[in-house]
Amino acid sequence: MMKSQNKKRGWHKVKIMKNTVVTFRQAKEKGEKLTMLTAYDYTTAKLVNEAGIHSILVGDSLGMVCLGYEDTISVTMEDMIHHTRAVSRGAGDALVIADMPFMSYQTSVYDAVVNAGRLMKEGHAQAVKLEGGKEVCPQIEAIVKASIPVCAHLGLTPQSIHAFGGFKVQGKGEEAARKLLEEAKAIEAAGAFAVVLECVPEALAKLISEKLSIPTIGIGAGAGCDGQVLVYQDMLGMYADFTPKFVKVFANAGEEMKKGFAAYKKEVQEGSFPAAEHTFRMDESILEKLY
Ligand code: KIV
Repeated sequence: MMKSQNKKRGWHKVKIMKNTVVTFRQAKEKGEKLTMLTAYDYTTAKLVNEAGIHSILVGDSLGMVCLGYEDTISVTMEDMIHHTRAVSRGAGDALVIADMPFMSYQTSVYDAVVNAGRLMKEGHAQAVKLEGGKEVCPQIEAIVKASIPVCAHLGLTPQSIHAFGGFKVQGKGEEAARKLLEEAKAIEAAGAFAVVLECVPEALAKLISEKLSIPTIGIGAGAGCDGQVLVYQDMLGMYADFTPKFVKVFANAGEEMKKGFAAYKKEVQEGSFPAAEHTFRMDESILEKLY
């Protein structure tokens, strides 16, 4: 291929540093930990990418942390596309994974492929995530066949919250642990490039990570996973409605934001904001003519 032809096709613009499913595979092979955080808008996506995080998950947790619902059930395809599109504009080198919302893939293989396609085509996601094990393997296979990378999600899968009867640790007993391991092997065989393990005992998550050739991304699943994911509002102390045991607050942005909002209110009310440097001027002689 001639250099000029490459340039014509825009290939010279493709950055080498972009994280892809290959990054995930290579990290697992080399034993390097993967990092993932959620984001739901352009500004946050830019900050997450600038921090060097490998992947951004546009989680359906947006239903709770952005839209104020009690759970993720009510999130729609339109919500996911809208937020994924915003994230994609700011994500830079981070791999953008969009969650498939409740009932966008459970209903049929056809629905799953069409909706995964919409997240990629309209939302500009580079991969999708869906919840479940063996029961969604036909969906995973079909989406992967359509050239859309799939991240699976096992353990505490929030879309099944009513079936579980609450937010509970999964895979504690022998039968449940064996089932989880089998589900993990099944989703790997179906073609998933990674799997999120949520609220799983550390020892079981470690065993699953050792048995799989695809990376496991843990949330409440201990340090034995191949990577970690957190909801950014949780790890920045911005979402106080519900704080799971597995959350660590890495920076108290929530407190800083409240301080900033209160300082703004105080300065507006006492008249010190806006000051001269925040204000536009005009020729006073023009103004006089208006009186
Ligand atoms: O929706 C989400 O943010 C998630 C993570 C908690 C893994 O699925």
